[in-house]
Amino acid sequence: MTSAAQYTWAGRFSEPVSDLVKRYTASVDFDKRMWRQDIRGSLAHAKMLAKQGIISAQDLADIERGMAIVTQEIESGQLEWSIDLEDVHLNVEKRLTALVGDAGKRLHTGRSRNDQVATDIRLYLRDAIDDIQVLLKSFRSALVDLAEKEAATPMPGFTHLQVAQPVTFGHHMLAYFEMFGRDAERFADTRKRVNRLPLGAAALAGTTYPIDREFVAAELGFEGVCENSLDAVSDRDFAIEFTSACALLMMHISRLSEELVMWMSPRVGFIQIADRFCTGSSIMPQKKNPDVPELARGKTGRVYGQLMSLLTLMKSQPLAYNKDNQEDKEPLFDAVDTVTDTLRIFADMAGGITVRADNMQAALTQGFATATDLADYLVKKGLPFRDAHEAVGHAVKAAEAKGVDLPQLSLEELRAFCPQVENDVFSVLTVTGSLASRDHIGGTAPAQVLAAIARARQRL
Ligand code: ARG
Repeated sequence: MTSAAQYTWAGRFSEPVSDLVKRYTASVDFDKRMWRQDIRGSLAHAKMLAKQGIISAQDLADIERGMAIVTQEIESGQLEWSIDLEDVHLNVEKRLTALVGDAGKRLHTGRSRNDQVATDIRLYLRDAIDDIQVLLKSFRSALVDLAEKEAATPMPGFTHLQVAQPVTFGHHMLAYFEMFGRDAERFADTRKRVNRLPLGAAALAGTTYPIDREFVAAELGFEGVCENSLDAVSDRDFAIEFTSACALLMMHISRLSEELVMWMSPRVGFIQIADRFCTGSSIMPQKKNPDVPELARGKTGRVYGQLMSLLTLMKSQPLAYNKDNQEDKEPLFDAVDTVTDTLRIFADMAGGITVRADNMQAALTQGFATATDLADYLVKKGLPFRDAHEAVGHAVKAAEAKGVDLPQLSLEELRAFCPQVENDVFSVLTVTGSLASRDHIGGTAPAQVLAAIARARQRL
């Protein structure tokens, strides 16, 4: 088609757009993925129009019959999407009209693509959030399972990537359980602001028909209507907020990924990841690379980028709708895809992690991990903490010079630095003693980790 007449809006135009402009302005290639939401929104709108006597009952019946056919045609891949029809909205409407005639042409009464697209995105995002919540839950439950298996397995806890104090692997996993729990809360909170109905705003100012917005909101499961028509069609802050929650989630994924990659390095050897999440090298036959966590770490940057795109897209836009907003979809969809794929894989991968307790134990003997325990012991014997800290510092220096860990120093050697030391010191210098003594809510004692796991399961 070359004439301007092909467009639903072509009445006042005297020449068609060039092919390049057509491609440049069309969005159907990417917004067709919202077709289900588009049809759901249209059906609710049509039902309201009929209830209000704006279209006839027969029109509504025709629209419903037609949309059932369009649905079936899209599902079976029969419908041919056309960039001549710009976007998902006009493609669906045109096909409906071809099937049912005038009723299809009446569907757009009291509506604009501006409030239509804003509605579709909100419906789409609401579905995406619900999917993400299910995935987050299964990922978090896999983390708890792993934590339970390794609730008492000692590993070095690090600060500055230097051995700091013993913790258990289960305790370490529960730290991620908390992070991803806050991510779930953020998505739940975002959902409240996503879940409002723009329809009724029409192009920007509202409409002259006696519409019932509350009815449409209830039909679509929205918690309420957008209060202001200009705001309803123009702002995408809910999409930015969603992508920001995605960015934070990916930041947590990236931290975990970094640890998994490091732990899997033979130089560290704390874990193995099941083969199905690793790949080999095309040149080095011995290699098994942790590709999945590495890619997830990389994809985090991509989601940050989508957040930046959306923030920049919205910045400086005057009220109300501007075509700029068509650019919201690709970053949004990409963030949804990246997060859902990543969560799905990570939920599975968490179950495929095996822990090398022997290597973690060996690492624990190399960094004077119980030095703080010795200082605490001296405090309990009456020494002020700062003096205890200094005395233990000297003991560490002596052990280092001898090439042994603190528990390998004799009672006499320890007494040279801290005369308060008695025979009972050796129970606090062991990893097991150190772990067991951090016995309060939030601490790493295996009994506390098990209690935290029980609470975690309740919260899931
Ligand atoms: N494809 C458009 C978008 O994604 C739909 C709204 C078009 N509205 C308009 N006034 N051109 O934003």
